[in-house]
Amino acid sequence: MKIKNICCIGAGYVGGPTMSVIAQKNPKIKVNVVDINSDKIAAWNSKNLPVYEPGLLKVVKETRGKNLFFSTNVNQHIYEADMIFISVNTPTKTSGEGKGYAADLRYIESCAKQIAKISKNNKIIVEKSTVPVRTSEKIKEILRSNNSSVDFQILSNPEFLAEGTAMRDLEIPDRVLIGGDNTPEGKKAVEALVEIYTSWVPIENILTTNLWSSELSKLTANAFLAQRISSINSLSELCEETGADIEEVSKAIGMDSRIGNSFLKTSVGFGGSCFQKDILNLVYISKSMGLNQVADYWEQILIINKHQRDRFSKKILNCIAKNYLEPKALLLGWAFKKNTNDTRESAAIYVANNLINGGVSIDIYDPKVKESQVHRDLSFINVNYKKSSVNFVDKPFSNISDYNIISIMTEWDEFKDFDWENVYTKIKKPAFIFDGRNILNMNKISKIGFNYFGLGRR
Ligand code: UDX
Ligand code: ADP
Repeated sequence: MKIKNICCIGAGYVGGPTMSVIAQKNPKIKVNVVDINSDKIAAWNSKNLPVYEPGLLKVVKETRGKNLFFSTNVNQHIYEADMIFISVNTPTKTSGEGKGYAADLRYIESCAKQIAKISKNNKIIVEKSTVPVRTSEKIKEILRSNNSSVDFQILSNPEFLAEGTAMRDLEIPDRVLIGGDNTPEGKKAVEALVEIYTSWVPIENILTTNLWSSELSKLTANAFLAQRISSINSLSELCEETGADIEEVSKAIGMDSRIGNSFLKTSVGFGGSCFQKDILNLVYISKSMGLNQVADYWEQILIINKHQRDRFSKKILNCIAKNYLEPKALLLGWAFKKNTNDTRESAAIYVANNLINGGVSIDIYDPKVKESQVHRDLSFINVNYKKSSVNFVDKPFSNISDYNIISIMTEWDEFKDFDWENVYTKIKKPAFIFDGRNILNMNKISKIGFNYFGLGRR
């Protein structure tokens, strides 16, 4: 079966970049990305894309209006498509059964109902959003019970792109994973999706599995990555006590080829839309199957992640108290990592909240995040949050003399490359830098005169 028309429901961090690359590599396929959020669609149709991702604008400009379209006309594009990607958000449930752990599937379920209602011809439905294992069963049920005159094949094709490097990850993926049913129709559907990817991905990098393996692999790949970060972060505290240096330890561990050197960078804690949500999901699934030890094992990764954020916040609060400083700090960075404007679960949100609760007034700067987002993030985790607790600054270094305390929250290159020597004389004394990402050269910064606090070093 040759796919001619794709519809992707959800124009977010996953749907937008993924469809741009699929459209670029398959000029004969018409790709319509739809979303209920009209502001987002308008932004996708402008030069100010709603997602900041290096290299994305170039690909969008190249394909938009040719075979890539962004629209709010969800029903029309569902109707026309022979393949539909579901890329809607699946946040952690905030109420009901599984509250705080299970994924909220209401957006996925509403898509499935809409697809069932609109469809008049056979369609392949691709789960792109990260979902709990066996979600495809649920989608299947909804589709088939609401529309028995059309054949729906469900595939799982989880996205492994990391934000900030999405375009590279999409163009040269380590692997593309496609799960489908082991029936003749299921195999045909898998083949149709394989064909789309083979336009640019070598066939040996395309892995086909059953639906459940595909769903579970995505969750657990993220859990493994997060586990490495929590492992190294737990050691950072041990290093501070013993005098070992985490950067040296991490290098030594990573040079073991069986372990490898990526994802061993200590930080103030991992953020992003996936890691926490996926681990909570894994914990929930394990618990609901009575596997309490398995659940506890994975939950510990989140406990360490919160601990890392909390202990970093405490270091700043203790420093203010011990040195009788004015309770004021500059936070550099708000995004959960560099090269993205995404702030979901960013460690900066939690640290800022701890500081606000500790009576510190904070100024915040991020090169790609908007002020309104900062207020939204803080009011989401703290019902008592008042806008006046933080001040968003555009040019943090122009009023640098206001601060004793500067804390680096995101590893943006501009913070690393900044001429710190130049500002030292202007800054209030004593001057403290808390490097939540260990991006600065500790010796150089200390030599200039700053009191330097990195993680896992003294
Ligand atoms: C992750 C997975 O990498 C990706 O495969 C999946 O599709 C979605 O989830 P993402 O959340 O976009 O991607 O970013 P990632 O690069 O994994 O970083 C997640 C968090 O971990 C960030 O806050 C990052 O700063 C932090 N991190 C990463 C560390 O603290 N140390 C590291 O060594 C690596
Ligand atoms: P992700 O990081 O998974 O891409 P985002 O939140 O960035 O998550 O994007 C998900 C998008 O899905 C949002 O823009 C949201 O408006 C959209 N969405 C959610 N439900 C529907 C729906 N039923 N129809 C169309 N779009 C939807």
